[in-house]
Amino acid sequence: MGVKILWYLTAPDGVVPWEADGRWQTDFGHLQQLASTIDKLGYYGALLATGADEVNVLAASVLSVTQRMKFVAAVYPGLIAPAKLAQIAQTINRFSGNRLVYNAVNGNDKMLPAQGIHLAHDERYDYSVEYWDAFKRLYAGSNQGYDGKYIKIAPRPADFGGGSQRGATPPRYEPFQLWGAGSSSAGVAHSVQTLDVYLSFANTPPKLGEKFRRVGAEAEKLGRKLEFGTRLQIIVRETEEEAWEYAEYLVSRTSVEYARQSIERQLPPGESFDTYVSPDPQVNRNLEQIRAGRLPKARDYEIYPNIWTGPALHGFNVLGPAQGTTLVGSAENVAARIREFQEQGVGTFILSGWPLIEEAYRVADLLFPLLDLDHGFDVPLLSPGRRPSQVSSIAAAA
Ligand SMILES: Cc1cc2nc3c(=O)[nH]c(=O)nc-3n(C[C@H](O)[C@H](O)[C@H](O)COP(=O)(O)O)c2cc1C
Repeated sequence: MGVKILWYLTAPDGVVPWEADGRWQTDFGHLQQLASTIDKLGYYGALLATGADEVNVLAASVLSVTQRMKFVAAVYPGLIAPAKLAQIAQTINRFSGNRLVYNAVNGNDKMLPAQGIHLAHDERYDYSVEYWDAFKRLYAGSNQGYDGKYIKIAPRPADFGGGSQRGATPPRYEPFQLWGAGSSSAGVAHSVQTLDVYLSFANTPPKLGEKFRRVGAEAEKLGRKLEFGTRLQIIVRETEEEAWEYAEYLVSRTSVEYARQSIERQLPPGESFDTYVSPDPQVNRNLEQIRAGRLPKARDYEIYPNIWTGPALHGFNVLGPAQGTTLVGSAENVAARIREFQEQGVGTFILSGWPLIEEAYRVADLLFPLLDLDHGFDVPLLSPGRRPSQVSSIAAAA
């Protein structure tokens, strides 16, 4: 079985979007151009994260410039009532030919109260199990209502929908595919009951594989089987040298302040930036330099061949792999690492590199020919004149 490669359709964009001087204004025209690029290059789809733009609006607004890409749109359960979300999803899927799936995310205690969600961490997951159960039933066309602990929906009256719908045959919907994440015990318990595709931020291939086997075993206890996917940033070039040069450039464009803020977010409770001691000696060496006001060299954040915890939009994970983990290397070596992840049970890769359009081209050009892609359609070769073996030999010469 091949792999699915997705890209990222979320503002901001730029060369170094985690720094004010490297971030672009990502307006609607730019997002349309990005979506149409992702679609044209043959990515399976793209992740639409919570943040600047409302994901259903974003997906709907780029339907007319895309034909086959899927939209994996992040949703916090409870922000939109399940009956309304089911109608939104039905509409987008009717208009798009079933291209919308949701990424069920439950955020964190810091962000959610500002969205009007005040449930504590574990209760959010209890609520979420019900929410998605109700959503899926309504999406599939149930008119039976829902009587849960949190969610109560009355059965639908016969003339619901008004005059224009009366007498019409209701459309039929395939079961809705739900992707999602959650690493805590409550998050895993929720995932194995609710999700079809379980996502996790990346780690080294063996560690990610270990996590997925653990989650898979929990799902099996319920008689369920999940697919697994991961989220990575990527710097792929023709040679290792070029890729690491670019990683070095990104470090040179990153402020010590960004590193410090990211470390502070990652510290275990009760620890401080000035005194924290990691069990990993390389992390301690990196911390010493950052405390002295300078950033270590790019290679000092390589935790496994081609797996890098250098600066990225989603964090500069100096203390260890988290949201910002990046694949760095020649096309051939990155492809080998992707296959290593695949051997650990990972079938789906949600990638991003900045600027998003430029790097989407690089990945499609250099990496796609080296992978066995399972996108459900023929993925076009950007450089039909260049055979995969040429990419390999360029890499081998490095
Ligand atoms: C691939 C992926 C994408 C995510 N996207 C979002 C997002 O768009 N918005 C968000 O608030 N959290 C997002 N999250 C984080 C989850 O909401 C959640 O905080 C995280 O999985 C930790 O869950 P836990 O509290 O069960 O450990 C994402 C997580 C993963 C693995």
